[in-house]
Amino acid sequence: MPAIQVHGLRKAFAELDVLRGVDLEVARGSVFALLGSNGAGKTTIVKILSTLLKADEGAVRVNGFDVAAQAADVRKSISLTGQFAAVDEILTGREHLVLMARLRHLREPGRIADELLERFGLTRAGARRVATYSGGMRRRLDIAMSLIGDPPIIFLDEPTTGLDPQGRLEVWQAVKALAERGTTVLLTTQYLDEAEQLADRIAILHDGRIVVNGTLAELRQLLPPAEVEYVEKQPTLEDVFLAIVGAAR
Ligand SMILES: Nc1ncnc2c1ncn2[C@@H]1O[C@H](COP(=O)(O)OP(=O)(O)OP(=O)(O)O)[C@@H](O)[C@H]1O
Ligand SMILES: [Mg+2]
Repeated sequence: MPAIQVHGLRKAFAELDVLRGVDLEVARGSVFALLGSNGAGKTTIVKILSTLLKADEGAVRVNGFDVAAQAADVRKSISLTGQFAAVDEILTGREHLVLMARLRHLREPGRIADELLERFGLTRAGARRVATYSGGMRRRLDIAMSLIGDPPIIFLDEPTTGLDPQGRLEVWQAVKALAERGTTVLLTTQYLDEAEQLADRIAILHDGRIVVNGTLAELRQLLPPAEVEYVEKQPTLEDVFLAIVGAAR
């Protein structure tokens, strides 16, 4: 059974038709990137998958559970790291993790916090207030918090937007480490290189539908092969994206 199954998903806000029949599947243990321009509907999909928003139409299953009829089971199966880091300036990094472990009624919250600090390279920063953290450190803490309780499926909504190259690399490493442990990851991004770096499969959301869905190699094949002149240049994902989505905006 796939980790995520979406068929015929539709969602409108008043007269704005955002999702007009979205179909996608995410295999267990894979990293799936949902690419799209600003306003394409990425966050809307993530909110529906994480039960924060109701679909108008369509069948949506997460971890085998129906998001409408079995919302509580879906919530137990997932964690969501939203588009904006949800951390509190006056707490330390470690306090955030301990608090989250307590909220989830886990035993040994201190040990869980220390393990996650270690995993995300935050051991030394753990005792400092989050107010002193860089953007990349906040993001990593945010992702670490979402892993408490070991959810099999995690959603990352634009995990690196606004980060500098170093911060992005740090988050990428964190996502790669998740994938190695077998967690299913659905991430949204506007950055094509991010999808290239992280994803097993990439889907492009445009005009309310998934217009392309495949591996990076499959997406590259949508364009004519590279021409050999003096240097060979394979089409980048950016070339594919622009060829499909066009200079429509
Ligand atoms: N609650 C809402 N009420 C009205 N319109 C909404 C609501 N939520 C989203 N929208 C609209 O739906 C469209 C899709 O929004 P969404 O946030 O899903 O886009 P996105 O792909 O995540 O964009 P970004 O890359 O900027 O985060 C936008 O036009 C947005 O204004
Ligand atoms: Mg968004």
